Amino acid sequence: MILSPSLLSSDFGRLAEELAALEAADLKWVHWDVMDGLFVPNITIGPLVIKALRKRSNLFFDVHLMIERPERYLAEFVEAGADLVCVHAEATVHLERAVAEIARLGAKPAVALNPATPLDMVEYLLPQLSMVLVMSVNPGFGGQSFIPFSLEKVRRLKGMIRAQGATALIQVDGGVTVENCGELVRAGADVLVSGSAFFSRPPYGQRHQAFLDAASGAVV
Ligand code: DX5
Ligand code: ZN
Repeated sequence: MILSPSLLSSDFGRLAEELAALEAADLKWVHWDVMDGLFVPNITIGPLVIKALRKRSNLFFDVHLMIERPERYLAEFVEAGADLVCVHAEATVHLERAVAEIARLGAKPAVALNPATPLDMVEYLLPQLSMVLVMSVNPGFGGQSFIPFSLEKVRRLKGMIRAQGATALIQVDGGVTVENCGELVRAGADVLVSGSAFFSRPPYGQRHQAFLDAASGAVV
């Protein structure tokens, strides 16, 4: 299991230090929540901030775009240093084109699905995708409760990926905790995003280890 901490719950006044602390705690990925105030009610950060922090970090930049018509900004996010760019299926009419464009720009393409969006939206795209993000809350804010049917959605998506012989990873984002992460990994999740449950309980090294232990089925 890969843990991708969501910076949304970090200290925005100390982003460079937060990134350094994550690397020191042996994290490999970091999750950037980009919100435009339109696709979701909240506004966060854009490519300029990511670009500034790219110089300060070797972490894998997992960029979750919660923006309308993300095709307008794909090149900017890849140039800013995104390693993976995730677009919402609900945010663009031409999802295949956006996915192909991310790959052409040299980043790993991923698609996110809101809780009520059916898995069929990604069925034909699976061979092109590095990752599918199953949203387990309605996007916009950190600290919300996990929507229980997401677990079944992860199981079904895993079956779909296996049936096609595809290699896409499954990421789960929203309300992920040490308590539910074991169940999520057993259902098929490969990458777990955690914001509030991760950042509220430093030190990050111990928190990372608690997630890893829980994911591997160890008693915590
Ligand atoms: C929600 C974001 C998530 C969020 C996760 O819109 O996509 O990444 O920050 O935060 P928690 O783990 O607190 O639900
Ligand atoms: Zn996210």
